Amino acid sequence: MVGFLVSWVTTVTAITISLFAVSARSFPPRNYFAVSPRAFPTRVCATTAPAQDALDVNTTSLQVGGRPFGMVYLSESIAFATIERSVAVLDVSNFTPKIKTTVPLPPDVVIGTNDPDSAGYEFHGIALTHDKRNLYVVTGYGAVVMDVPKTIAGRNDSIAGLLSRNGYAGSNAVQISITPDDKFVFISQEFGSNATLNRGAIEVYNVTRLENGTVVGGYKGFVALGYATVGQAFSKDYKKLFVTSEVSRSARNKNETEGAVSVLDVETLKTTPGKAYLYEIRGGCHPVRCKLANDGKTLWVTVREANQLLAFDAEKLAKNVTTDVVVANVKTGTSPVGVAVVGQYILTADSNRFGYSNTTTGATVVDSLAALRGKTSRWPQIRTGRFPREFALSPDGNTMLVAEYDAQKIRAVDVSSLNARMDV
Ligand SMILES: *[C@@H]1O[C@H](CO)[C@@H](O)[C@H](O)[C@H]1NC(C)=O
Ligand SMILES: *[C@@H]1O[C@H](CO)[C@@H](O)[C@H](O)[C@H]1NC(C)=O
Ligand SMILES: *[C@@H]1O[C@H](CO)[C@@H](O)[C@H](O)[C@H]1NC(C)=O
Ligand SMILES: *[C@@H]1O[C@H](CO)[C@@H](O)[C@H](O)[C@H]1NC(C)=O
Ligand SMILES: *[C@@H]1O[C@H](CO)[C@@H](O)[C@H](O)[C@H]1NC(C)=O
Ligand SMILES: *[C@@H]1O[C@H](CO)[C@@H](O)[C@H](O)[C@H]1NC(C)=O
Ligand SMILES: *[C@@H]1O[C@H](CO)[C@@H](O)[C@H](O)[C@H]1NC(C)=O
Ligand SMILES: *[C@@H]1O[C@H](CO)[C@@H](O)[C@H](O)[C@H]1NC(C)=O
Repeated sequence: MVGFLVSWVTTVTAITISLFAVSARSFPPRNYFAVSPRAFPTRVCATTAPAQDALDVNTTSLQVGGRPFGMVYLSESIAFATIERSVAVLDVSNFTPKIKTTVPLPPDVVIGTNDPDSAGYEFHGIALTHDKRNLYVVTGYGAVVMDVPKTIAGRNDSIAGLLSRNGYAGSNAVQISITPDDKFVFISQEFGSNATLNRGAIEVYNVTRLENGTVVGGYKGFVALGYATVGQAFSKDYKKLFVTSEVSRSARNKNETEGAVSVLDVETLKTTPGKAYLYEIRGGCHPVRCKLANDGKTLWVTVREANQLLAFDAEKLAKNVTTDVVVANVKTGTSPVGVAVVGQYILTADSNRFGYSNTTTGATVVDSLAALRGKTSRWPQIRTGRFPREFALSPDGNTMLVAEYDAQKIRAVDVSSLNARMDV
């Protein structure tokens, strides 16, 4: 299934396995992100970013009573957010969001660990199918598939299906991509398992919705990538999947700092995932999330341990051209995680997730055109609460939601002044 692993076993990884085999399931503990000394990454390339001017835009926030993670808009009036182990339905028809209803994971559903201190316990990223009938909620062994109308109604039978291989390729599923025909899903397993030699992996399911609404998944396998594999984005033509790993696949151990963007062939992923890996391109010091610009020409990658936003030429990435593939290297706030595109602007979620002193949290606002012309620094920041993690942009492009993980708030930001500019 994963051809390269066979040769790895006999070469360098015998040592790696003994050092790291126990780590995937047991860390990070629940609140380690903000308060405890970290176990990973072991080395960073920067701590506190230089001070940034505050950008004056209107924001408003909602206390959500737990740590929010992923968010997605269904329409101009409804959005979904994951909050710990539940899905919140948000009424976003006014600027300040309201929680309309919350659907918790029933206690008898097994989709990963039942240990609240374990990384795979919470709900992470979410995505809607293109027909908007199902919401995929990523967690633990895979994903919980929700029926959208039932979830909005807050029903206790909202779960339409589960995608799980019982932790075979990992127990900390974190992000998902859905093919345009809604027939395949690609799930990032951040830390992998012993089957992936503790590299992160992309797991693949083909999915079918039965007439009664039940969603069934067929497990297609996985492809192992670098350590701590999280971010995913399709190329504009959907033929390639770009995936970020904090430490590259070619690294000998996870103390190395150089991460990578892996390029996967989507058609091969659908049939034989273990053969879908094409190549990886150096991605800076711990890249974590990525997003394609609206014109499809640039892949924007947050590089958390360097306080950077890297722009890759997406056409070169897709063709394995490494010369001048990085077309901009921009300074952000501290420990950027989430990344969003608003017209010609790129926003990074400057998380300060490791709690460095004397710095701000917020969203750095980068004018992509100026960045691609060479402006690298002095970008302003929209201030937020603690640990901004992920973003969701409203369909009209005028409101950005920010999940403030440690502040336990969802903030709405009026980005209409940014959205009014060009659509790059
Ligand atoms: C805190 O940050 C500000 C702005 O970057 C800087 O001027 C100041 O010296 C810093 N203070 C400490 C104690 O590091
Ligand atoms: C914030 O909202 C108020 C009230 O709608 C408006 O008057 C003001 O111009 C807005 N400020 C910004 C920076 O958009
Ligand atoms: C689910 O909701 C229905 C209708 O409100 C209720 O009758 C039923 O007892 C609930 N089931 C569980 C398992 O909570
Ligand atoms: C992974 O570990 C589990 C439990 O220790 C074991 O049952 C399984 O066979 C191992 N899988 C591989 C591929 O080594
Ligand atoms: C939906 O249909 C499938 C296949 O016939 C069946 O196994 C399943 O129990 C049904 N689910 C519900 C909720 O009716
Ligand atoms: C997945 O694909 C296989 C063929 O490769 C097919 O037999 C199976 O029914 C599909 N499963 C689902 C749930 O779509
Ligand atoms: C990785 O770093 C940790 C913490 O600094 C250290 O304990 C460990 O020995 C290192 N492992 C390798 C393989 O260098
Ligand atoms: C990608 O480029 C590298 C360096 O030129 C080459 O070694 C490798 O075979 C290429 N891979 C693919 C899949 O084209």
